[in-house]
Amino acid sequence: MSSVIDWPALENAAIDVRTRAYAPFSQYRVGASILTKSGKIVVGCNVENSTYGATICAERSAIVNMVSQGREELLACVVASRAPGAATPCGVCRQVMAEFAERLPIVAIGLDEAGAVVERAAYDLETLLPHAFRLRSTP
Ligand code: THU
Repeated sequence: MSSVIDWPALENAAIDVRTRAYAPFSQYRVGASILTKSGKIVVGCNVENSTYGATICAERSAIVNMVSQGREELLACVVASRAPGAATPCGVCRQVMAEFAERLPIVAIGLDEAGAVVERAAYDLETLLPHAFRLRSTP
């Protein structure tokens, strides 16, 4: 259980995995890193598809990767994309994050063409997706 979040390590992991994004259609490369409750950092990048609709975002790619390694609670997330206007998670990714997190701080970083971080903004899943849908068992 990690009590302190190592944001620089999470940022470096997101920046690194972003180089492996498969984005031939949009040229918009995204990397995501997540910190799990056991202290593991798990990463994912966007993987586009010729059908466009089958594209998976970096954030969901990281979460799917995490579940494959052993499902855990998410404690923190970094999303790396290009500046200006660093990406915040899309609506679908927010809902998928909510499946595995009680509360989740999210930092969005924007990189310039040389790969330097020139933007940084902090969010919280509760703010990005208030009243997330949760399937509760009937009483
Ligand atoms: N994308 C992500 O991977 N994460 C986001 O937060 C926003 C959008 C990807 C999907 C697609 O491959 C490309 O960015 C352009 O939308």
